[in-house]
Amino acid sequence: MFVDKDISKFNNIETPFYYYDTDLLQKTLRTCAEAAAPYQFHIHYALKANFNAVLLEEIKSIGFGADCVSAGEVRRAVEVGFDHQKIVFAGVGKSDKEINEALDLDIFCFNVESIQELDVLNELAAAKGKVAQVAIRINPNVDAHTHHNITTGLDENKFGINSWDLPECAETLKASANLKFIGIHFHIGSQITNLDVYKNLCVRVNEFAAWFEDKGFTLKVLNVGGGLGIDYYNPDHQIPDFKSYFKIFNEFLEVKAGQEVHFELGRALVGQSASLITKVLYIKNGKKKNFVVLDAGMTDLMRPALYQAYHKIENLSQSGVQSPESKVIKYDIVGPICESTDCFGKEVEQPESFRGDIFAIRSAGAYGEVMASKYNLRDAIRSVYSSEI
Ligand code: LLP
Repeated sequence: MFVDKDISKFNNIETPFYYYDTDLLQKTLRTCAEAAAPYQFHIHYALKANFNAVLLEEIKSIGFGADCVSAGEVRRAVEVGFDHQKIVFAGVGKSDKEINEALDLDIFCFNVESIQELDVLNELAAAKGKVAQVAIRINPNVDAHTHHNITTGLDENKFGINSWDLPECAETLKASANLKFIGIHFHIGSQITNLDVYKNLCVRVNEFAAWFEDKGFTLKVLNVGGGLGIDYYNPDHQIPDFKSYFKIFNEFLEVKAGQEVHFELGRALVGQSASLITKVLYIKNGKKKNFVVLDAGMTDLMRPALYQAYHKIENLSQSGVQSPESKVIKYDIVGPICESTDCFGKEVEQPESFRGDIFAIRSAGAYGEVMASKYNLRDAIRSVYSSEI
């Protein structure tokens, strides 16, 4: 991903910043669109992964829709120019104000996560004289085999309507004049690398679809969510295996004539297309540990502190200048924040590093910039695009 041109230019840019490779993003989007095309699958991009407007512009241009989880994200999607009829609004806690705003914008669908939410949406739509399209998010109790903090489809998770509540849900739908039921929605978790779990999901989707049909409902949409993972260990394997992923759904999902299959991909589309570029402030060599202190911290990229997530770390300044005499040292690579968890990696082997060296923390395009915080009153992290430098 990094060419000499970039690295020498990085020296003149104030760090830290997110560096977006827009060529790679376009290539990833094209690969995904081409893999989905034979099956006529519909892709919605999950804005929560990254709502940077420059990226959204590319994503909209390729024709994908938008999966939003707040009125702010719905507004952002509309501002960028996504077709309102390609915007879905999910989330376990939509406020009345947010629902009203989305109703005013005539979005395609609300993914509803509780029976009480159905009642509220029906009331608010009635007050506006509108009919809201809804998909029911079902908790399928399928184990995604991913980090427990990013698993969402098990009985103990807060997301979706549980199977035992579906009879009441069906009654509520039938009694709600201002709701139009269009389908069912699932999302079992994120950073899924074992594609077999999607086979289990398909089996459950087929069962739930049959259940609703049996009750006399017509399903226009089967929304299977997102979750496809990326290879954090090999960020140069940049493009996820969209072909194998879609093939599973083509093989295992029972799709009736006139039904649409919808996906909500976030990480797989944007994850590899950014790195956090940061400079070494200080080297501290101790008796037990050696530390590289960077000018980026957990406030800029929270995933390692929050989930002990792995991101590959590279010293760009030293990577091209290795000689047989060069030392390799194990460092704890930390940031400037007053928290012990402000650490991007422990005992990470790196070439001997020096004040002023430029580091890249790779695979930071998803859940990076958007999860940045103001803690310690740090300056907001900036973005730089490959097309600019
Ligand atoms: N649809 C729904 C309903 C979701 O909750 C999510 C992610 C997605 C789609 C997109 O999932 P993706 O394709 O990006 O895996 N902050 C965590 C990830 C949280 C994911 C939340 N939901 C992280 O940094 O790993």
